[in-house]
Amino acid sequence: MTTSAVNLATDTDILIIGSGAAGLTLALRSAEFARVTVLSKGSLRDGATFYAQGGIAAVLDSEDSIDSHVEDTLVAGVGLCHPQVVEYMVAHSAATIAWLVAQGVPFTTRAAHGGHEGVASPGAENSSSAAELSSLHLTQEGGHSHRRIIHATDATGKAVFETLQRRAQDHPNIELLKSCTAVDLVTQTPENGSQRVCVGVYVLNQETNCVEAIRAKFVALATGGASKAYLYTTNPDGASGDGIAMAWRAGCRVANMEFNQFHPTCLYHPHAKSFLITEALRGEGAKLELPDGSRFMADFDEREELAPRDIVARAIDYEMKRLGCDCVYLNITHQPAEFVREHFPTIYSRCLEFGIDITQDRIPVVPAAHYTCGGVVINQQGETDIGNLYAIGETACSGLHGANRMASNSLLECFVVAFGAAESIQRKFETTGFTESINPWDESRVSDSDDEVLVSHNWDEIRRFMWDFVGIVRNSKRLNRADRRIKLLREEVRDYYIKHRVSNDNLELRNLALVSELIISCALKRKESRGLHFTLDYPQTDATSSDTILVPDQL
Ligand code: FAD
Ligand code: SIN
Repeated sequence: MTTSAVNLATDTDILIIGSGAAGLTLALRSAEFARVTVLSKGSLRDGATFYAQGGIAAVLDSEDSIDSHVEDTLVAGVGLCHPQVVEYMVAHSAATIAWLVAQGVPFTTRAAHGGHEGVASPGAENSSSAAELSSLHLTQEGGHSHRRIIHATDATGKAVFETLQRRAQDHPNIELLKSCTAVDLVTQTPENGSQRVCVGVYVLNQETNCVEAIRAKFVALATGGASKAYLYTTNPDGASGDGIAMAWRAGCRVANMEFNQFHPTCLYHPHAKSFLITEALRGEGAKLELPDGSRFMADFDEREELAPRDIVARAIDYEMKRLGCDCVYLNITHQPAEFVREHFPTIYSRCLEFGIDITQDRIPVVPAAHYTCGGVVINQQGETDIGNLYAIGETACSGLHGANRMASNSLLECFVVAFGAAESIQRKFETTGFTESINPWDESRVSDSDDEVLVSHNWDEIRRFMWDFVGIVRNSKRLNRADRRIKLLREEVRDYYIKHRVSNDNLELRNLALVSELIISCALKRKESRGLHFTLDYPQTDATSSDTILVPDQL
C-alpha cells in the first residue's frame, strides 16, 4: 500500500522481514485473511531475487517427470537432501508456476524462441492456465537431466519481483516499508511454560534513526542468504545473513552452514561488481575453456559443463591454481549471434558495457560465493523452533538442498515454503492474539558511533579470511585459523555494538560476524568431504551422513 517508513505502525497481524520472492509471496498469500507488513532494509528490490537470472525449476514437460526432478535434486545434494521434502517441493512446482503466471509474470514462451525442445504440461491439467503453461519455453541448467527451467529471458528474478511487488502494492491489506532494518526478534515464554513464542520485532527506522518495537501475531524471516560473508560474491550487499543471526540469537537451531555454494561463473572484470553469468549459458551449449582455448570439464565429470555446481566450481578453482591464471573463459560463440542476443539480452548488454561482445568473444569468469544452503531449521511450512516465527526462502534450511543446491531450485523453494507458511498461519490465525506489550528499545547507555572505520575494517577482514580460509577447498589448519580470528572479531564487534547507537552498517557487521562463526563451526564439525564442503584433511565421502545441526547455548 505505501512505501514510506516515517511513521511505523505499532502492530500488524503478520510482519514479514524481507521483500524478495519468499516475503512477497507470503504477503500475497496471507493478505486475504490478515493485515500484512513487509519490511526491507534497503529499497524493496534489494534482495537476491531481483538479480536471479536462470529461472525456476518445475516439471512442465510430458517427457519429464516428478521422479526425475526429485532424483536429480537428490544426486546434486549428495545424500543429504530430505527425500520427502524434495518430493513435496517438486510435486508443488507446476502449481507454483501456474500461480506466478496468474499473477502476471511475463515468462518467456516457446513462440518467442521459435518453438522448442519439449511438449505439453502434465502438471497443469487441473489448472485453467494449462494452455499457458504448456506454451512456456524451458531451458536447461547443471544437474538437471531434462529441460525444466521456466524463465523470463535471462532476467527471471526481475520479472518475478516486479510483478509480485506491483500486486502487493495494489493490495489494501499489504503495507510495504523500505529502509527499515529488523534488529532483533522479541520472544516471550507463555505463563503456562509452553513453547517460546515470537511476539514482535525491534526495527531500525532509517528515516528517523530510531529503533521502534512492532508487535505482531506472526513474524516471518524472509531475509535471504549470507554470501556477503565472502570477499567475492554474486550477491547484493545486504546478503549478511540477518535472519539466520536473529533466529539464532532468539534460540532457533541452525543447520548445514558449511554448504555455502560457489557459483562457477561470475564475470571477471575489474569494474564488474558481482555480475553473474547464468548457468543457462552452459545449458544452451557454452563451453568452459582455459586461457589457451582447451576444454577441461571432461577431466572432472562425464556431465562436463552441466555437472552440478560444486563440481564445476571446484574444477575451475583447481585449474586456476594449477595454471596460476586469474580466470577461465566461457565460450558461446558457436551459437548464432541472434540466438545469443535473444536468449541472453541482459548478459549480452552488460558484457558489452565492459567491451566484451559475447557473440564473438569469450567471457572471462571466476567462481564466487552465491547461495547459503544452510540456515534456520524449518519444516515444510516454514515453522521454526519458536512459536509463531517462520523462516522462508534462502534464510531457511528446509532439507531441499542437502550438501549442494541444484540450479533454479531456490526460487522454487521460496514459493512453495511461502505457500505452506501462509496455510500454517491461517490455521492458527483465529486463536492467536497480540502480546500485551513489548518493552521499548533502551538507548540510555549508548553513544553515537565514533569510529566507523572499525566497522568497515572488521567487515573487510571477515570477508577476506572467509574467502581465503573457508572457501571452495578447505583444510583443518585454515579452518582453525579462521575460527580463532572470528572469535576475536566477534568480541570486538559485540563490544562496539553494546556501546553505540545502532546503524544499518553495524547491525549487518554484527550479523555477518555471527553467521561466519556458524559457517566455520559447521565446517569444523564435518569430518568428510561432501558436496560444497571439500576439505583436504578428510577427502573421503562417508557412506552415510547427516545434517550438521547447531543448537544455541551448545556452541
Ligand atoms: P532475497 O530475495 O535475498 O530478499 C531478502 C530481503 O530481505 C530483501 O528485501 C532485504 O532487503 C531484506 N532484508 C534482509 N535483512 C533484513 C533486515 N535485517 N531487515 C529488513 N529487511 C531485511 N535461484 C534460482 O532458483 N534461480 C535463479 O535463476 C537464480 N539466479 C540467481 C542469480 C543471482 C545473481 C543470485 C545472487 C541468486 C540467484 N538465485 C537463483 C538464488 C535466488 O535468487 C535466491 O536464493 C532467492 O531470490 C532468495 O529469495 P529470498 O526471498 O529468500 O531473499
Ligand atoms: C544461474 O542463473 O546460473 C543461477 C541459477 C541459480 O542460482 O539457481
